[in-house]
Amino acid sequence: MTESANPERVLLHYLDQGSDLCEIENYVADGGYATARRVLGEMSPVEVIDTVKESGLRGRGGAGFPTGMKWGFVARDTGKPVYLLCNADESEPGTFKDRQLIENDPHQLIEGMILSAYAIGSESAFIYIRGEFRKGYDILCRAVEAARARGFLGEKIFATGHTLDIVVHLGAGAYICGEETGLIESLEGKRAHPRIKPPFPAVQGLFGCPTIVNNVETLACVRHVMEKGPAWFKGIGPGKSPGPKLFCVSGHVNNPGVFELPMGTSLRELIEVHAGGVANGRALKAVIPGGSSVPILRADEIDLAMDFDSVAAAGSMLGSAGVIVMDEDTDMVATLRTIAHFYHHESCGQCTPCREGTGWLETILLRLESGEGTEADIDTLYSVAGGMLGTTICVLSDAAAMPVRSFLDKFRDDFLGSLAPEEG
Ligand SMILES: Cc1cc2nc3c(=O)[nH]c(=O)nc-3n(C[C@H](O)[C@H](O)[C@H](O)COP(=O)(O)O)c2cc1C
Ligand code: SF4
Repeated sequence: MTESANPERVLLHYLDQGSDLCEIENYVADGGYATARRVLGEMSPVEVIDTVKESGLRGRGGAGFPTGMKWGFVARDTGKPVYLLCNADESEPGTFKDRQLIENDPHQLIEGMILSAYAIGSESAFIYIRGEFRKGYDILCRAVEAARARGFLGEKIFATGHTLDIVVHLGAGAYICGEETGLIESLEGKRAHPRIKPPFPAVQGLFGCPTIVNNVETLACVRHVMEKGPAWFKGIGPGKSPGPKLFCVSGHVNNPGVFELPMGTSLRELIEVHAGGVANGRALKAVIPGGSSVPILRADEIDLAMDFDSVAAAGSMLGSAGVIVMDEDTDMVATLRTIAHFYHHESCGQCTPCREGTGWLETILLRLESGEGTEADIDTLYSVAGGMLGTTICVLSDAAAMPVRSFLDKFRDDFLGSLAPEEG
């Protein structure tokens, strides 16, 4: 197998750099904040948006929406403030890349936020961080203070006319707070009930004002797009889905972890080379390529380029690039029941198909797991999941339903094997 070209690591640069980049003096000595200073002094906000559009950067939070295009939707001249929200809720099972960026290189994120806020005309930004990430919260609070003390945040930053303050907000441990409108509601001090869209946040978001929500990795990428230029970014990986990408590999592998590789690196290379192959010499059975919300792949489907379009063409999704590897001994019924329990627990309950559907999925899977299921249960699972697709306020319902359908499509024999023996 040919290994993909592995260019210089930029997002995980801290791994190759001798000093602790949480300390602002080390980050500055390493060239940090020079790009923000230059861009705010020399470029207009429209030029920054155009540069990000040209780079082809697509959001790393799961949906892969083009970042520059999203910024272009911000309602201008409304007389209201514009808010930038960094989504650091990172609760998708199998995903642990944003935490790594926050805990090891917080100024990379803050610099990306300064550039992004400047582009969209925002003077006030928030980092909404998952409640369990106490360490990351403390690191970010300290980093924001240090940046403010140096004049990189606050009024007239870098001695320009631009103002930006960042508030770090700790969530309280609910997955739905990662959905952007749930996040906004939570930040407003309410229950994180996702909103019906439209209006989209870019028009009516936090406190009814134009708001952009971007993922941690997306904002970190902005720092490098503005430093090295759009051609550099576009030159890494496939043209429609370019750039460096963080892949989280967990499960039955010898070397789990976060790997920075070109977008489009093959799933086989990721598992067999970077993650050291399946553990204990066992054979591969299945892989979830993009966090627990996305359809599962069989072992014979891993010759696949890991970029948004290629994974979608294979019937799954790149999602948050949380790659979960399962070996030949994996109990697929128990695994799916674990996933179903998560979505049942995390459903906010606003929509009937999601509130009731997630409960029924878990109940039926528990029956199958305990060996008391029937073939009719398998058909019911399939049809309950079908009724949950595309019928709700947010896509948590789809995220709960898609794994069920794909597990049944690809591993039906495992489910048939779990049925209660017929009497008589
Ligand atoms: C149930 C649910 C949970 C989500 N959790 C996260 C999350 O933890 N982090 C994240 O960045 N995006 C999450 N998203 C996606 C966000 O709604 C949003 O699309 C993303 O933050 C946009 O950032 P991007 O354009 O930079 O990708 C979630 C979406 C849903 C439906
Ligand atoms: S789909 Fe589920 S999580 Fe999303 S708003 Fe409806 S009930 Fe809440």
